[in-house]
Amino acid sequence: MILMKIILATHNIHKMVEMKAVLKDFQVDVLTLDDFPEIGEIPETGETLEENALLKARTVNKLSGFPAVGDDTGLEVNALDGDPGVYSARYAGENVTYSNNVNKLLSEMINKNDRSAQFRTVTAFVDGEDEIIAEGKIDGLITKEPKGNYGFGYDPVFYIPKMKRTFAELSAEEKNRISHRGLALQKLCKLLSAHWSENKPTGD
Ligand code: IMP
Repeated sequence: MILMKIILATHNIHKMVEMKAVLKDFQVDVLTLDDFPEIGEIPETGETLEENALLKARTVNKLSGFPAVGDDTGLEVNALDGDPGVYSARYAGENVTYSNNVNKLLSEMINKNDRSAQFRTVTAFVDGEDEIIAEGKIDGLITKEPKGNYGFGYDPVFYIPKMKRTFAELSAEEKNRISHRGLALQKLCKLLSAHWSENKPTGD
């Protein structure tokens, strides 16, 4: 049996577990940058989520020689003209905590009536020959205070009306089914399935 390797351009173990779950029906071994310490950090210098996702996947593909997947996510708040968007990780500054970012968001949203927002993820697969992009998004509302203990990042202040809960009140499984990243990965998986049925993986 040929087991193809895919390298995720991240150190985030949760993303690897999610990707593995989505790709469970394929003969694919999912690795991360922890398996390639020589690659180091990849600066997110793009101005869009798509640019950053491609930048990460192209860099890892080039340096490792294996097919790679990069992703980038942003929280886009309508009353803030789409901010924090591509700068979601650094909204309150460099080297800040998730709660620094959440507090900055809540203070920017004081007195805003329009609380609507979306999470958007762009994933990019690059294997040296082809580049495949998939996007996922979910609409929600920014709450006035944090609620829930699960998840990470802006989860405690992102309320999903159809679930009647914030992301931080959903189990990981519930969140992955409907989340921006879950949807982007499911779409990418469908596109990869079509890609691999046309171009049989050669393994390593
Ligand atoms: P990344 O591109 O996945 O690293 O995400 C960039 C930033 O967006 C993270 O540092 C988080 O602040 C935020 N973020 C990404 N995904 C989520 C999520 O699922 N829930 C809450 N915040 C997220």
